[in-house]
Amino acid sequence: MENVFLLVALIATFAVIHLTQAEDHQEGFISLDCGLAPSEASPYIEPDTGLWFSSDSDFIQSGKIGKIDPSLPKTIKSYVTLRYFPDGIRNCYNLSVKQGTNYLMRFTALYGNYDGLNITPKFDVYIGPNFWVTIDLENRISGQSEEIIYIPRSSSLDLCLVKTGQTTPMVTSVELRPVPNEIYITESGSLKSFKRYYLTSSDIILSYPNDVKDRIWEPKFDPEWTQISTTLEANNSNGFLVPQNVLKTAAIPAYAVARFNITEELDFPDDQIYLYLHFSEVQSLPITESREFDIIWNGQHFDKTISPEYLKTTTIYSTTPVTCKGGVCNLELIRTTNSTLPPLLNAIELYTVVKFPQLETNENDVGAIRKIKAIYGLNRITWQGDPCVPQKFVWDNLNCNSTDTSTPPRITYLNLSSNGLEGTIATAIQNLTHLEKLDLSNNNLTGDVPEFLANVKSLMLINLSRNNLIGFIPQALLDREKEGLQLFVDGEHRCLSGSCVTEDKIPVKTVALVSSATVMVIIVVLVLIFVFKKKILSSSEGILLPPPSIKLGANVTSTDVSEISIEMKRKKFTYSEVMKITKNLARSLGEGGFGVVYHGDINGSQQVAVKLLSQSSTQGYKEFKAEVELLLRVHHINLVSLVGYCDERGHLALIYEYMSNGDLKHHLSGKHDSSVLKWSTRLQIAIDAALGLEYLHIGCRPPMVHRDVKSTNILLDEGFTAKLADFGLSRSFQLGGEYHVSTVVAGTPGYLDPECYITGRLTELSDVYSFGIVLLEIITNQDVFDQTREKSHIAEWTAFMLNRGDIAGIMDPNLNGDYNSHSAWRALELAMLCANPSSEKRPSMFQVVIELKECLTSEISMKGNGQNMDSQSSPKVSMSYDTKDLPSAR
Ligand SMILES: *[C@@H]1O[C@H](CO)[C@@H](O)[C@H](O)[C@H]1NC(C)=O
Ligand SMILES: *[C@@H]1O[C@H](CO)[C@@H](O)[C@H](O)[C@H]1NC(C)=O
Ligand SMILES: *[C@@H]1O[C@H](CO)[C@@H](O)[C@H](O)[C@H]1NC(C)=O
Ligand SMILES: *[C@@H]1O[C@H](CO)[C@@H](O)[C@H](O)[C@H]1NC(C)=O
Ligand SMILES: *[C@@H]1O[C@H](CO)[C@@H](O)[C@H](O)[C@H]1NC(C)=O
Ligand SMILES: *[C@@H]1O[C@H](CO)[C@@H](O)[C@H](O)[C@H]1NC(C)=O
Ligand SMILES: *[C@@H]1O[C@H](CO)[C@@H](O)[C@H](O)[C@H]1NC(C)=O
Ligand SMILES: *[C@@H]1O[C@H](CO)[C@@H](O)[C@H](O)[C@H]1NC(C)=O
Ligand SMILES: *[C@@H]1O[C@H](CO)[C@@H](O)[C@H](O)[C@H]1NC(C)=O
Repeated sequence: MENVFLLVALIATFAVIHLTQAEDHQEGFISLDCGLAPSEASPYIEPDTGLWFSSDSDFIQSGKIGKIDPSLPKTIKSYVTLRYFPDGIRNCYNLSVKQGTNYLMRFTALYGNYDGLNITPKFDVYIGPNFWVTIDLENRISGQSEEIIYIPRSSSLDLCLVKTGQTTPMVTSVELRPVPNEIYITESGSLKSFKRYYLTSSDIILSYPNDVKDRIWEPKFDPEWTQISTTLEANNSNGFLVPQNVLKTAAIPAYAVARFNITEELDFPDDQIYLYLHFSEVQSLPITESREFDIIWNGQHFDKTISPEYLKTTTIYSTTPVTCKGGVCNLELIRTTNSTLPPLLNAIELYTVVKFPQLETNENDVGAIRKIKAIYGLNRITWQGDPCVPQKFVWDNLNCNSTDTSTPPRITYLNLSSNGLEGTIATAIQNLTHLEKLDLSNNNLTGDVPEFLANVKSLMLINLSRNNLIGFIPQALLDREKEGLQLFVDGEHRCLSGSCVTEDKIPVKTVALVSSATVMVIIVVLVLIFVFKKKILSSSEGILLPPPSIKLGANVTSTDVSEISIEMKRKKFTYSEVMKITKNLARSLGEGGFGVVYHGDINGSQQVAVKLLSQSSTQGYKEFKAEVELLLRVHHINLVSLVGYCDERGHLALIYEYMSNGDLKHHLSGKHDSSVLKWSTRLQIAIDAALGLEYLHIGCRPPMVHRDVKSTNILLDEGFTAKLADFGLSRSFQLGGEYHVSTVVAGTPGYLDPECYITGRLTELSDVYSFGIVLLEIITNQDVFDQTREKSHIAEWTAFMLNRGDIAGIMDPNLNGDYNSHSAWRALELAMLCANPSSEKRPSMFQVVIELKECLTSEISMKGNGQNMDSQSSPKVSMSYDTKDLPSAR
């Protein structure tokens, strides 16, 4: 249909344009004057047609603007400017369309020697991932215009110009017209316009506004035809909305006996073709006359004979496509024997089938990746059009599963490493539900590691290292790691928890338990502890530690800040609310670090524990706030969670979830009403506490040290799930070498890492020491300090008993021997390993968790076997105590 152009100009004089009416009909039209600078009047009304044209600049990010040679004959306004694409292979328009609506789309390219080189371009045009048509402007001085009838599968349509050789792709105008969904529907796919003409002896090309759908009707006439016409309007409401000017004229064969014999030669002989014929009787026939004929299309008879009604449109079309023999299609209209008049025909449309086999990338994936592109401002030339297909144009830094053309491709790999990304990790990533590998390393990303990453079930590798991320690694992600996800954070390939830790369990190698030298150290330490006990206690209460090295809110982006502040607002209580919650501090639950803890309830439903911070604490107001922000973000089943806080000058309070079963110490002491804790319950409590600690150590970014692990800080809920409390003393540390240290010594004597007195530093391994002491309490039910014992400190006492070979004397007598000594022994061994005075020899909490779980498993399975272990195993165990070193029990 390429030779429309110059003729279009002619119709201007004939077209009677009522602009207001025209506007009404342009609903849904997209008319882009390519290369029109947005600063020029845009949109404007094209004077020849009354169509509203606008600049294309909002629909494409690439390309340059050109103007046709002004010395060429004048053409219509929308053909003057153009956009050309010297960069990149594929450049795409992104058009916003109605999904599932039938569109007539027209692509026009008029070279016009815009670059003065006189080299006509040749390139391909794709719709989404599928090839539509080749534009070849050689010998087409008036340009090439291609039309397609197409139903977009999603709400955005990519129209892509693809460079196929040396020449530069270009475009003059892009037009989209929604057409009724009932017409031009075929099973075979989209329709490419091949011919559309009406039979008239005039030379007027019809388009908008004559055709409300802006189809272009070319005039066609043949000397063997005679024109007949009317001035009356016909009824054209059969769906096809054929223009009145088409229906007013018709052709009949010049000789009454003759038939219509129309042939068309296809550009591509193998194309499949659809035929549409429009009839309307223009003559009022006397009763004695009749016009009736048969239609023969490529030798095939249509079922029905046709007898067009007066001034009423009849459209006949083929319902299945045909291939024309040798690419020559033939239409014949033959009058039936009892017809008194020859056949009549108003207009013909011919379309060829375009098959678009490649499905577009899954719409969610496309939406997500476009969002990611927008958020991070990734304006790279390949990031246009469909992200995955065709495969040769897959976006840089992406990979997809597009093996099967009949299922929408999915994005499986996104590598934005070293792309200078800033801001937080985009939430849109979670919509890439088939993503397997995500590499965001070596950027400037801030904020925390978002929990939503765990929702992408297909993820196998996430590399977030070398960013400025802070906060905690959500539990959900840690859980995914256990299922095999590889998660890399920070710059040192640091591998968090399970996946990459080699399976070394607790080293079972013998441990020099308490050599005389270490005994001496311990004794010195203990003396020191007693001397400084009061001082340490008062300092640990009074000091709010130096400002944390992590400053939430300083580093994070605006969304993050608002998220935090929303969270903080939601959880903020006034002092009078605190008073209401605690019924004016009616019931004290006890005293902890920082202040007194009261029972309370919120709205009579949620029970809470409210800790009022003593006045002396309030000096570190900033630190308190930082602490609250930190604690509000800690979410782990084995950490007591912060429900809210009160922040009024002079009144600072922390509101925690209420733990109805009190603390572990209380239960071990037998003061609690309920019965003695069973051995398996004790192991489960130890596992819970260890998991909480493990989370602080490796789930937090930067890692946190609890610094005050002790049996009174392990609380039990109604189901006896243990949770660590009072990590208000905890500190997180920005990486400072391998250790995460604090120079402020805090904590509780007896639980405190003896090495800390020498080095003055607290590390994760200090927590392991304290945990070892707790474990000893669980096993022995001895007080941590007891002056009446031969050895006053519990670790020292246990070592002493072990060396005497008195294992029965070590175990809590309240257990009444009701435990599997194998698991008891392993637990004891583990406890002593944790409480090793030398931090190098202590296991990590990760190893502790594994070992304790195995203890519990063996306890349960032994019990399941119904064996009474006491009588069997005791001798075996006691035998192993002759040496000074702890032997392996296995
Ligand atoms: C494409 O168009 C859609 C709809 O207008 C829009 O939401 C999206 O952001 C656009 N994408 C690009 C890459 O411009
Ligand atoms: C036009 O024809 C349709 C049926 O094809 C009919 O429903 C409608 O009433 C007609 N309109 C007029 C104005 O006659
Ligand atoms: C129709 O015209 C073509 C050439 O225009 C001719 O080859 C063919 O024989 C004609 N068919 C009939 C039935 O006249
Ligand atoms: C022509 O004759 C056929 C029967 O041979 C009849 O069905 C049809 O109605 C007639 N057509 C006209 C226009 O009389
Ligand atoms: C790719 O997708 C196909 C079809 O959805 C699926 O059968 C195949 O397993 C996928 N391949 C990979 C490597 O995920
Ligand atoms: C991401 O790309 C970088 C190079 O740009 C490469 O070094 C790195 O291995 C890629 N990451 C993954 C997970 O393939
Ligand atoms: C992070 O940003 C700083 C400046 O804003 C820049 O110098 C540095 O190169 C960026 N780092 C990365 C990895 O992009
Ligand atoms: C993710 O997909 C859901 C629908 O599945 C959509 O509602 C949501 O807006 C999408 N989010 C993003 C960030 O694209
Ligand atoms: C993660 O990214 C960092 C920084 O780009 C790189 O050094 C490291 O090799 C990556 N790790 C993996 C497993 O790809």
